[in-house]
Amino acid sequence: MAGRRQPFTESIDPVYDFDLAPDRLETGSTKWSRYPADVLPMWIADMDFAVAPEIVSALKRRLDHPVFGYAVAKSQLREQIVADLDRRFGWRIAPDDIVFLPGIEPGFNMALKASLSPGEKILIQTPMYKPILDAPSHWGLEALHVPLVRGEKGYGLDRGALAEKLAGAGAFLLCNPHNPTGHVYARDDLAFIAAACEAGDTLIISDEIHCDLVFDGRSHVPIASLAPEIAKRTITLMSASKTYNIPGLKTGFAIITDRELRDAFNAARSGMVDSVNLMGLEATLAAYRDAGPWRAALLDYLQENRDHLGRALWRLIPDIRYHPPEASFLAWLDCSALGLKQRPHLFFLEEAKLGLYAGEVFGTGYEQFVRLNFGCTRATLTQAVERMAAALSRNAGN
Ligand SMILES: Cc1ncc(COP(=O)(O)O)c(C=O)c1O
Repeated sequence: MAGRRQPFTESIDPVYDFDLAPDRLETGSTKWSRYPADVLPMWIADMDFAVAPEIVSALKRRLDHPVFGYAVAKSQLREQIVADLDRRFGWRIAPDDIVFLPGIEPGFNMALKASLSPGEKILIQTPMYKPILDAPSHWGLEALHVPLVRGEKGYGLDRGALAEKLAGAGAFLLCNPHNPTGHVYARDDLAFIAAACEAGDTLIISDEIHCDLVFDGRSHVPIASLAPEIAKRTITLMSASKTYNIPGLKTGFAIITDRELRDAFNAARSGMVDSVNLMGLEATLAAYRDAGPWRAALLDYLQENRDHLGRALWRLIPDIRYHPPEASFLAWLDCSALGLKQRPHLFFLEEAKLGLYAGEVFGTGYEQFVRLNFGCTRATLTQAVERMAAALSRNAGN
């Protein structure tokens, strides 16, 4: 297996060494359990890196106290989030605006349940992360799909189509930064969306789970930070889970500045997602309070992985169209020019022993795409592209 994959033991110092990936086989990992051991899994969105040592220490400290009762967020965590949002995005909120959740998927589902009635319409931009695509059907809502447009430089808004469809929608479920394209919405596009939602009295549900991994010195703009009146109609969803690689601890939060909207949201959780994971809250606090330098180092590594992937594809498989993502660790690869007889996801699984996400999972019309997770060692990434290229050259010989 590529990279310096070794059994993880205390003696390995993982600090800032993203070339070192602990062996995840037999750890109950979703990513590493789906396929046989000869398949390199690059599908679900978690990273292969060890988490920041500061997070591990905080969890160990908490384990020293042997009672694990129902948990509530400490005021320290609320204050940390309030301070970070102000410092990083210039967005001022109050500690009570934060509602802790057992994840972001429950968060956008709660938001839909709380605020829309069956039969109402909800706007979603495709391609889209599957649980967002599926969410409207859980609540009897009608999804209106507006594709992102692909230009020479990357993905962008089709403002005309968006405004037209938004006019009839009860909510816009925005994903920024966007999964799977890695597109980071510019402030003026967000202002356009916000104005259209104001005009149509439309609720904004903004999934910003990838917002702490933005590349090239760009800034993330929470749509609710544009103006207090936009915040009033917005449910923002954030989490430390993607950035700090702790999604298995099932913790996230909503920010809802409007009291009435927040009360409705909280009412929608009853009977379903009542408490939050104790260790997830501990890890979230340690991540935000102590692991900033780790995040900065990770960001550099991921950005270099992104560029490495671009160079390797250009050199070995130039027929794959690829726009470098502006955030996070997911690459959306257009394989339509490869002329494969099979769907690309199946071809690469069977012929390259690579577990990628199938494009069709992200919406109709994306059957020739795959999503590749580059939250792995650079050596593993190199091996993945080499496996793809070798499979394609064997295929060309047939
Ligand atoms: C955009 C987006 N939202 C939500 C999630 C899932 O969040 P959670 O595990 O907190 O439910 C993911 C995971 O990949 C994601 O990419």
